[in-house]
Amino acid sequence: MKEEIMEIALKRGFLIPSNEIYGHISGFYEYGSIGTPMKRKIERAWRELFLYRDGNYEIETANVLPEAVLRASGHLANFGDPLAECKSCKKRFRADTLVADHLEAEVKKGGPHVKRLKEHLARLAGMKPEEMSAKIRELGIKCPECKGELAEVGWFNLMFRTNIGPIEGNAGYLRPETAQGIFTAFPRVFRAHGGKLPIGIGQVGRSFRNEISPRQGLIRLREFTQMELEYFFNPAHPQHPKFAEVADSKLRILTRESQKDGKDEETEMTAADAVAKGIIPNEILAYFLVRESQFYAGMGVPSEKFRFRHMLAEETPHYSGGNFDLEVSTSYGWVETIGTAYRTDFDLRSHQEASKQDLSVFVEEEKRRILPHVVEPSMGVDRLFWCILEHCYRENGGAEGRDWSWFDFPPSVAPFGCAVLPLMKKDGLKEKAEEIVSQLRDAGLSCYYDESGSIGRRYARQDEIGTPYCITIDYDTLKDGTVTIRFRNDGKQVRLKVAELPSILRDYIRNGKVTA
Ligand code: ATP
Ligand code: GLY
Repeated sequence: MKEEIMEIALKRGFLIPSNEIYGHISGFYEYGSIGTPMKRKIERAWRELFLYRDGNYEIETANVLPEAVLRASGHLANFGDPLAECKSCKKRFRADTLVADHLEAEVKKGGPHVKRLKEHLARLAGMKPEEMSAKIRELGIKCPECKGELAEVGWFNLMFRTNIGPIEGNAGYLRPETAQGIFTAFPRVFRAHGGKLPIGIGQVGRSFRNEISPRQGLIRLREFTQMELEYFFNPAHPQHPKFAEVADSKLRILTRESQKDGKDEETEMTAADAVAKGIIPNEILAYFLVRESQFYAGMGVPSEKFRFRHMLAEETPHYSGGNFDLEVSTSYGWVETIGTAYRTDFDLRSHQEASKQDLSVFVEEEKRRILPHVVEPSMGVDRLFWCILEHCYRENGGAEGRDWSWFDFPPSVAPFGCAVLPLMKKDGLKEKAEEIVSQLRDAGLSCYYDESGSIGRRYARQDEIGTPYCITIDYDTLKDGTVTIRFRNDGKQVRLKVAELPSILRDYIRNGKVTA
């Protein structure tokens, strides 16, 4: 499945392997002329739901960070993966992945019970290199390529390092997450908006991680886009002003108990219940999990295909008040696509100590200074993009007689809102179609124009990139100013007046209408 979707994504212009003519380096993908408008729509939908609707702010901070910031945040010391090198063929691997793959293969062969596997896997997250080396020896793991002996496990920092300016030793790093720029900019943004908590500050931008062996397409990239929101609040009031709107919404949670007993079964509970039972640490975090569910469902990822995994204590940083990963079922298995963390005051406190600047804020009602706490929903655009491709892919069916594969994207994220197709190029139909394209584009609709080939082939081409509506210009258009709209999912057509098109199309897109 993943190979098939990747091939289609490359062929149809969604993705481009970076610098392909020089030989593609894994971990880098670019968005093509079909994928880019779709990625932009995903980012815009995130801004609408996570920023604009709640009155949160957006900033844009630097991609290159000085070492001091990353020393304070802990990335310099801790942001890495254990690395195992083969003594014979010199290939390098992520040591934890080697151990995990080995244990999973054992279970498949009827080895240790799945319960033990989970315990092992959870412990891997916090293991030091020497412990990992001992584990590799204990399990007798060899190089997966040549079966050679593996050297002692080392530590590989995942940040790309550079030098700022011409003076050697002035180290800078490409940011491994967008969040740090939000923490360092916090005092200015807070003051610019009246100095009141709570305040949400978000950012959409590139992050960089020099992953050891990224062989999973868009899932593990070395350069990727994150959409992150840091929600700063007074820890004495861990409530969200809009929690009542989501309190009764259901969340599918994989609890710690279910992971530990090896059952791995999700439990459905309301956001309010999950907070009352102490599974989710506060209403703010629960509020964001519901918004994430709504966001994903709106992007075409079916709700039964994702869940919130409560991360085990062993996997969670010491300062955390609780972490939940949104995981999506994909052909790569369950993949984390959003991490939502209660980061407490860890980041502001660390930056305060390192920078010697006071990052506390004055709380008027309490007449005292506090360091705000933070809940952070952090999501990757690229992993979501991939999930949308996988879950909206249809091999055929839908429109009558269709024998080509197509994408059932929600109209709001489809690369193009509509396509305009003149039935023929002659008799003034082409000119009329061009006039209508201009009108639609002037009205703000993203509109594809195609005049080449048979009309059936052109419908198929639009289905293949998930365009929800095809507007055909025919001889009646010249006579009475009407056009046909063909709906992607059932192939049925209705006739409409050209003048009504912009408002009707906007309604269709807003309401997700995909059949006549
Ligand atoms: P993993 O364990 O899979 O490496 P992570 O726990 O390191 O992921 P986070 O640090 O929580 O991921 O990053 C937040 C989000 O950023 C992820 O949920 C994911 O969507 C995205 N992300 C992180 N690393 C990558 C990557 N290498 N390629 C693409 N997206 C990524
Ligand atoms: N800001 C969370 C992360 O990228 O890990």
